[in-house]
Formats: sequence, C-alpha cells, structure tokens
Amino acid sequence: MQPVLQVEALAKTFQMHHLEQRLHAFSGIGFTLHAGEFLLLKGPNGVGKSTLLRTLYRSYLPRSGHIWYHTAEGRIDLARAADVDIALLRRREIGFVTQFLIARPRVSAEDVVAEPLRLAGMSHAEALLEARRWLEEFGVKRDLWRAYPTTFSGGEQQKVNLARALILPQRLLLLDEPTASLDVHARAALVRRLTDLKAEGVAMIGVFHHPGDVAGLVDRDIELTAEEANENVDF
Ligand SMILES: Nc1ncnc2c1ncn2[C@@H]1O[C@H](COP(=O)(O)OP(=O)(O)O)[C@@H](O)[C@H]1O
Ligand SMILES: [Mg+2]
Repeated sequence: MQPVLQVEALAKTFQMHHLEQRLHAFSGIGFTLHAGEFLLLKGPNGVGKSTLLRTLYRSYLPRSGHIWYHTAEGRIDLARAADVDIALLRRREIGFVTQFLIARPRVSAEDVVAEPLRLAGMSHAEALLEARRWLEEFGVKRDLWRAYPTTFSGGEQQKVNLARALILPQRLLLLDEPTASLDVHARAALVRRLTDLKAEGVAMIGVFHHPGDVAGLVDRDIELTAEEANENVDF
C-alpha cells in the first residue's frame, strides 16, 4: 500500500536574529504514515510538537529533510513545494486543527461550519443541515447556531472550530491539542468523529492534552525529547 506521508530526516531551527543564534527545534524526524493510520506526538511543553506540525503543514520551512506527500499523480515534497501547490493541498486534502477558531465578523456559527461543504460543491441547504448536525454533535446550544461566534465563549468557539475543521474528511489531518480546555462531552464527540475518519482512511498526526482520550486510535507514537530541543547552536 502506498503511504500518504513519508518524512525523512526532518530538521527545523529558528533563526533568532536579535540573539545572534539559532534555536534548535528538532532534527532527525522520520516516519511513514499510511491511510487510516494515527500517529501520536508526545513530549513536554516547548519541545517542538507544534513546530513539527506547523512544519508538516508548511507554515514553517524546515532547515533540511523531506516531507513526501503522495497523491494519485505522484509525490510532492511539502518541504520544497510552491506556495500555490501548498494552498491547493490545504483546501482539498490537508487539514490543520487547533483549539482556536478564526471567527469572522457577521458570519453565523452554522455558516462557518457549512462553508467547507459549500466550497466542495454541496448545495446551500444540504450543507446547512449537515452543519447543524455537527453543531449539535459537538454540543453547541441550538439558540447559538445563527449567532456570530465572535461573541462566543472560548469553549463554544472551540466546538464551532471542531465542527468546521472535521466536517469534511481530508486525506491528512494534523491536530494540535484541539481539545485543550473542552468539556468531556465535546471531547467524546471529537473521539467519535476521529474514529469514523480513521475508518474512512484519513491519516492523522496529533498532539493531545488528554492523550488517554485517543488511546484506542493510536497506531504509533513519536516522542520528542528535550535534549534535542534545547541545544543552542551558534552561527
Ligand atoms: N516562530 C518562532 N520563533 C522562534 N522560536 C519559536 C517559534 N515558534 C516556536 N518557537 C520555540 O520553539 C520551541 C518549541 O515550541 P513548540 O513547538 O510550540 O513546543 P510544544 O508545542 O512542544 O509545546 C520553543 O522553545 C518555542 O519558544
Ligand atoms: Mg504546542
């Protein structure tokens, strides 16, 4: 079976110009991920877990290494791909889920959640029904569905965020502590959704505030260690 993602010798450093030094984030990261596999990323605060996920999503450029993403047309190195190709993959195939909703003014919760389905070609009415189903599933109160998430509490925003981020299956899903301060009901809804996505063949890499939640989904884990993380390298 062809992998979805093949990461080879991936390394990242931050150039701290004001300190005239480089901060070593991680190095020597390598793994292969197939459809439907779930990789748990572990390690203490500040060790580079979010940085690794952002590098895989190409929000950061790695210092060296390869991130081979396999498609039916061939493989593309996300470490070197053109921004336009990255933008296309992010729209269609690669999702990134955090706990933070990017709420836009005067867009209702149900429209925020329905948007990915509409962009994918679903009818307005059908997408709205599906969006409401997911708002309900994640425990957003019915009287908030037509309200603007900019005014919601942090927890309510997180639930809208999860409904939107997970409504449409992607091929690869990167999850950065998506449930950091959610109640147990919303966390259970997330685990149900991830279980279904995994069964549909979505490959996932995630950091979880409560790793016990996803213990039943994990195929492999990678532990980032502080020795690697805190080594400062002079120019
Ligand atoms: N944009 C950045 N510029 C400089 N240093 C950064 C940047 N982002 C993260 N770091 C540093 O990289 C290290 C790893 O951070 P992070 O990946 O957020 O850790 P984790 O998610 O494991 O808690 C930390 O020391 C952090 O301060
Ligand atoms: Mg983090």
